[in-house]
Formats: sequence, C-alpha cells, structure tokens
Amino acid sequence: MKIRKFSFGKIVDCNSVIKNIKAEDGKIPYFHNDNSKLIFKLEKEDLVYGLGENIRGINKRGWVFESYCTDDPNHSQDKRSLYGAHNFLIIHGVDRSFGVLIDTPSKVKFDVGYSKNEELYIEVKGNNYDLYIIDGDNLNDISREFRALIGESYVPPKWAFGYQQSRWSYKDEEEVRTLGDKFREKNIPIDSIYLDIDYMERFKNFTVNREAFPNFEDMVSDMKKDGIRLIPIIDAGVKIEEGYDIYEEGVEKGYYCKDKDGKPFVAAVWPGRVHFPDFLNSEARLWFGKKYKWLVDKGIDGFWNDMNEPAIFYSEEGLKKAYEKVEESKNKNLDIYSFFALKDAFTGLSNSQADYNSFYHNMDGNIIKHNDVHNLFGHNMTRSAAEGLESIDSNKRFLLFSRASSIGMHRYGGIWTGDNTSLWEHLEMNVKMMPNLNMCGYLYTGADTGGFGGNCTEDLMKRWFQFSIFTPLFRNHSAMGTRKQEPFAFGEETEGTLKKLIEFRYGFIPYLYSEYMKAAINNDLMFKPLSFEYMDETSRGIEDQILLGDSLMLAPIIKQNAKGRYVYLPEDMLMAKVKSLDEINYEVMTKGHYYIQADIDEFIFFIRKDKMLVLGDSAKNVESIKNEELNLIAFLEDRANYILYDDDGMSKEYMKGAYNNINIEIKNEDGDINVNCKVEGQTDVKKLNITIISKNKDNIKKSYEF
Ligand code: GLC
Repeated sequence: MKIRKFSFGKIVDCNSVIKNIKAEDGKIPYFHNDNSKLIFKLEKEDLVYGLGENIRGINKRGWVFESYCTDDPNHSQDKRSLYGAHNFLIIHGVDRSFGVLIDTPSKVKFDVGYSKNEELYIEVKGNNYDLYIIDGDNLNDISREFRALIGESYVPPKWAFGYQQSRWSYKDEEEVRTLGDKFREKNIPIDSIYLDIDYMERFKNFTVNREAFPNFEDMVSDMKKDGIRLIPIIDAGVKIEEGYDIYEEGVEKGYYCKDKDGKPFVAAVWPGRVHFPDFLNSEARLWFGKKYKWLVDKGIDGFWNDMNEPAIFYSEEGLKKAYEKVEESKNKNLDIYSFFALKDAFTGLSNSQADYNSFYHNMDGNIIKHNDVHNLFGHNMTRSAAEGLESIDSNKRFLLFSRASSIGMHRYGGIWTGDNTSLWEHLEMNVKMMPNLNMCGYLYTGADTGGFGGNCTEDLMKRWFQFSIFTPLFRNHSAMGTRKQEPFAFGEETEGTLKKLIEFRYGFIPYLYSEYMKAAINNDLMFKPLSFEYMDETSRGIEDQILLGDSLMLAPIIKQNAKGRYVYLPEDMLMAKVKSLDEINYEVMTKGHYYIQADIDEFIFFIRKDKMLVLGDSAKNVESIKNEELNLIAFLEDRANYILYDDDGMSKEYMKGAYNNINIEIKNEDGDINVNCKVEGQTDVKKLNITIISKNKDNIKKSYEF
C-alpha cells in the first residue's frame, strides 16, 4: 500500500480527501508517538517540503509553523502562520522519502527542527486527527499519490491566465472605465480589473453602491465586450442591517454562526457589525453560494473571497471589555504593567482567541465550537461559492479564489497569497512558496505582484513582473494609501518595460496553459524544486531556482540593484535571455555554475535538455490570442517529446475528453533531425515554426503545417 491511514480521537470530516481509506491499527511508520506528539528523527541530509502557504524557504527545516488560518499582513520570518492551513509535508532523505498529511480542522504545530535541530515533531490541538503516510518511488510519485488522495485541482477559465489589474479600490464607474480605456489606448494587454470593497453599498455582499456605480450592468457588459472582465470581492461577514435581505433571510433561517446562547454571533469587520454565515452547515453553505447569482446575472464571471479566516476586527464582548479597561484606568497613575494592559485591551481586539472560542457551528446537526474547526471556515466559504456557481451553470468555469484555505479547497478554487508588502524579501518568498503551494494542490495561485502594502519602486515592480509572468494568477494589487502601481504609474520608461513583460506573458500562455491543464489532470506539479528532477547534492540545496512544467527552469533575479545572478545548471541547458517576446537570445550552456548578467530590463530562464518551449503571439486579451501559428524552440541532444494541450478554455467539457493534444517528437538520428507531430482532437494551430538548437551545431529551422 502506498497510502496508510491511522486515526486518533474523534474525527471531524474536513473534506480534504476524496478516497476512503481504511484506518490501520498497527504501528505508525517513521514516527513515534510520545505524549501526544508525533516525533520523527531527522537525518542531517533530510529536506522537509510542503506546508503550502508559509513563510521561509522551500525547505522548511529550522523553524516552527502553526497551521491556523490567520489574517496577518506582516509576513515576516518570525511568523508561524499565514492565511492557509496546509498540513502536508514531504520528508526527503537520501535513501527514503515519504509524505505526511495531518487531516484535522484545528491548530497543528509543525516543529521542523526548531526546538531540536534533528527532530521534527507534530502536535495536534485536541488530538483528533487522521494521519496519512504516503510512500512512493520518488518525490514526483509521492506528490502525485497525495494529490490523487485529495482530488483534482480547480481549473479556471483560460482568460484567468491573462494580466489582471487590481487596487483597493477603483472606487467608481468612471475610474474603472478610464482604467480599462487606458490599457486599451496604450495597447497593454489585460483581461480583468478587480472591484474591491468600495463597489458595494456600505460593504454589504451582493449589493452595488449605486451612487458610485449607477450603470453597473452596462459597465460590466461594455467592458466585457472590450475583453475586460470585472471581478468583485466577496467578504465573509454579512452586515447586520434592518431591511438588508441577506441579513434578514439568514437570521430567519438560522444560517449564521451562533454564540453560546444560541443567538447569531456578532463580530465586526468592514461594515461594522456582521454575522458569519455558517459555511460548515450544508444548507447555509448552499444558501450563500446561490447568492453569487445576483452578480452572475449582471455579467460577472469571477470572484475573490476575502476575510474568511475569518478576520474579526472586534467583537461586542471584546470591545466592552476594552471600554471597561479604559474606565478602570481613568485618572490612575499607569505604570508599565497597567499602561501596557490598557494598550493591549485594544491591540488584542482583532482575531482574538477569546472570540474564536465564543461562537459555534452547526455541522449538519453536530454543534462544534469554532476554534475546534477554525481551519475549515475559508475552505467552506469557497466551497459554498463553487457549489452555488455550479448550481447556476454547471458547465461553465468561473474564476474563483480565496484568501483563507485548507487542504481540499483546491478542488473548488485557487488562492492568492494575501497581504504581502512591496519588499524584495516578499518577492523571494513568492518564488519559494510556489512549489509548496503546488504540492498542497493549489495550482491556480500567485502573489499580489508589486506587493500589497508599502510603496513599490520601479525596479522591484520590474523584477516582480519578471517572475509573475510565469505564475498562473498574475495580478497586480495594492492597498489603499500606497503608491500607485499600475503599469503606467511609474513613467514612460518603466511602462515600456512592464508592457513588454505583459506581452511576453500572453505569448507564453500556450505553454503555461498546457502545463497547467496537464498538471491538473495528471495530479502533477507545475512548480517543482530542482530535487524533484535532479538527484545531485547541489540541486537538493537550491532554493532560488525552480522548475516550471515539463521544460523550464526559472532563475528570477530577486535582489535589489543586482545586474545579474549566480545560476547552477544541473545539466546542459539552453538559456533564454529575454528583452521582449520578439527579442529573445538563446545560448547553449554546459552544466555547472555561472554568473549571468541580466540588467533590470532583461530576464533569463532555461530550457532543459531534450525539452521544448512553445510560444505564441501577444494579444489584447486571452480570447483574442490567435493560436494559428506557434513558435517552438527545442533544445535537443537525442530525443525530445512535448505534449501541447489545449481546449475551449471556458467549459468543463475537457473532463469528458474535449481537448486537443499536439504530440511533438524531435529525434536526432545520427545527425538527421526528424520531427513528428501527431494531433489528437481538433486544433486551431495551422503551423509550427520549429527552431532546434543543439550543442556545437548550427540551429535548424523547420516548419510543420497541419
Ligand atoms: C484584505 C485583502 C486585500 C483587500 C482588502 C480590502 O486586506 O487581503 O486584498 O484589498 O482586504 O478589501
């Protein structure tokens, strides 16, 4: 058996796995159980991958992490939790590797050599969990087994691979329309613009602020005709307001989380006082999910779900206690302790443990305290949306992603990595997070490009774009009050560079989409650490180069003022140095260590040996990309194969086999280069322009017509 399961305590169904595996009684492999801790002795060479959305490296060794969905915008290295709870690890040793899933809805501590350098221990709050141990022949195999256990990843519509522009907030119709026009006038490709909280009427879900957006429906449809979709935000809290239908309906039907007295629990977020829909209750979940129809009927094709850890600014009870503290402190001489206690009464108001311990879910008859199932809330909000959208149009792919998540939510939507900051460290973290997010099932993901908080500089924006053009979710988003960071916010020179990078992205979509879909269908990773393909010692230690799909190795420049970077090539590779989609310089490089120059307006990536890259043309948006003629670049030694996948990009028909594959095979037979293409299904491609580059040989150009 490749997957073994062991159960402890009382199990809550977390909706993480899709396979029913029988729990065993025997001894747990690899770990020993000591005082409710699972302990594993780490060898010096062991690497620890996984934990999805998290701070620090690809290799998690040397820190302690807590799976507990947390709204914390300071993603510094001393933190233990971010927005997601992704309890999956792969331990990769020299002679044995295996995966571990801790399937539980509550907090889990992963001490990965923090307390003791050579010890990994896992501690589950409440001690109720299923433990899965996943064995496999190699890292790819383990990861694939795990992904098959948790089910196929969400697939967005193809237009969601285009460039997306966001800011908190584009506050009225004129601003949104002008922004779209500006992209079109400047010929900068774009597929969507985001509507942050100010599109709503006083932050009420499924309402529109008609003063700011008097012709919302026309705006949505005019812009969609121009190839730009508008993506509204939906928040977890429902405003308490007499006469607001959703609030009233939810109260009447008993669909909100309850306090200890059985009354709807009152928290406060953007609109002030709110109730939280009980997403863990199947009826309430479907009720809320169907509300998305109100916006779908207005022409909306995608959503982002936010504040669903859930984030709580304060609760009634918390605020009351804080005011009491003020009263008690008035006219007193406050010494160090009493002064800090007064301050803490307010700074500790948000996301407090006291609040998470004071409301309850009705999990289809089972009343459970929120804190015991905390990590399932965001997951089930997005499940609610996905189920609702499915009931609206079961064959349509909607764009959907969330801030909070846990294992299993990847079947319903993607995630963005939350409120990062315009810091070089956060660009680096974005790079390192990608493989671990993929391992946990999250393929449709990316960071707020340019950083959400703080002020972005031109050089950081360029370098960040040079990485985000490779991530499935490519969205530029920034917070209120920060420096603007649209591609044209920095002046002409930077605009020119960013435009070229966006154009490159559109040309890259045939490969990106093909790799995405194959990874989703086959439970593969898109982004991998080098060690998944290369066994040498150096590859095992590399953290700032990652593999993308079947053919590429990325080596982004993530340091300020760097005019290049060190790169390690575990085998001979073909370097692509890119100034623009039309200005790519290819150079064969033999395996080894290099310092490669790439000034601020250039970036590099590598095509692996006996692999190929397919590039198309740029276009104003994804739907107008013409895939009739594609350029294929192969780095050939002996024999290279590539499967270029495509489908209609909008429906779920691909699940029934409605897709097409172009199987390309290039062989070097004693100096004779033979190209073979086999098409399965109907392709739009009419011509492939093939460039074959080999070591010590002249380039060969061929074209293949269909
Ligand atoms: C949260 C989100 C951010 C959004 C803001 C306002 O901080 O993470 O993306 O812009 O709320 O809605």
